[in-house]
Amino acid sequence: MGRRAVIEGIGHAVPSKILTNAELEQWVDTTDEWITQRTGIRERRVCDDGDTCSSLSITASYEALKVAELDPADLDLVICATVTGDYHFPATACLIQNAIGAKKAGAMDLGAGCAGFVYAAATATGFIESGQADNVLVVGVDVLSKITNWSDRSTCVLFGDGAGAVVMKSEENTDRGVMKTVLNADGSGGHFIILEAGGSLHPMPDPKSADFNATIQMEGSAIYRFAVNAMGDACCNVLAQAGLDASQIDVFIPHQANLRIINAAAERLGLPEEKVFKNVHKYGNTGAGSIPLALYEAEAAGLLQRGMTVMTVGFGAGLVWGANVIRW
Ligand code: ACO
Repeated sequence: MGRRAVIEGIGHAVPSKILTNAELEQWVDTTDEWITQRTGIRERRVCDDGDTCSSLSITASYEALKVAELDPADLDLVICATVTGDYHFPATACLIQNAIGAKKAGAMDLGAGCAGFVYAAATATGFIESGQADNVLVVGVDVLSKITNWSDRSTCVLFGDGAGAVVMKSEENTDRGVMKTVLNADGSGGHFIILEAGGSLHPMPDPKSADFNATIQMEGSAIYRFAVNAMGDACCNVLAQAGLDASQIDVFIPHQANLRIINAAAERLGLPEEKVFKNVHKYGNTGAGSIPLALYEAEAAGLLQRGMTVMTVGFGAGLVWGANVIRW
């Protein structure tokens, strides 16, 4: 009980352009069959009509605010989880803050790869539970198509673009809201998925940076092994902290990177198929957008009912991973 951070509204945005596996077959040496069997992905959305990280975020934010019936002027904080912000700086959170008119809100970006939304929701929860904020907008968004090497079949089939946003409000004397969170990191695995160029070590305009790659470099099978373990471990830890066992979870919302990774995590937890939300077939891996986009679609499908216990889990570049248990 006490002061809790409750999700009151969810919004989303995806680009209109659908890129199918059949189209990818034209560009790289791959097949629809390989992609579907190894990843579960059938299509993904990509920004090719002027949409950007901030424009998707702003659309998702307006929708979340409308559902939550919150005036943007009443937001205390805007957190944008992304690794593909419009710029290194200003923060995309500031672009959102300005566009929606969150006049009194602070704003910051948070970089935790595909676990970004879990980290950002945990950060918002800390601000709310400590009394420093009443209303926080949390956006998870990535436009990974912009940093994908479209001639590398081992990565280009995996990623897509999308955004989700939630309004988190303080509520007193309730058992709703974020119950427990675990966050983990292991920087020793940073090289397994990395974007080398463009940071201060290898700045883009520096000709020497030509040696360094300006697109996602990934060791897929190492990430796969890490992901299966990390998802299971994070869920077991957060369940133990919440005093729950997996059978008490009503809806499981895992990061949507690969259907086989999702299924392996669900199997380890003993979660039946009907409790596991999946939309990876439609969007691929949308980075920090993945979990809030899945939350949005799960709610839109009527799967998230008040009083239910929901578990989210993410993993990503860093390496980082984490999980939330939320009473809806
Ligand atoms: N089409 C056809 N063949 C392919 C393709 C493709 N698109 N990609 C790879 N292959 C080939 C490989 O070259 C390899 O061929 P070889 O045996 O002749 O060498 C073969 O398929 C098997 O490759 P593996 O890498 O062993 O395939 P695997 O079953 O491990 O699947 C995959 C690869 C899908 C990348 C998997 O490892 C995976 O999903 N890893 C996790 C990736 C992930 O989630 N990344 C996101 C991290 S989160 C973030 O922060 C962005």
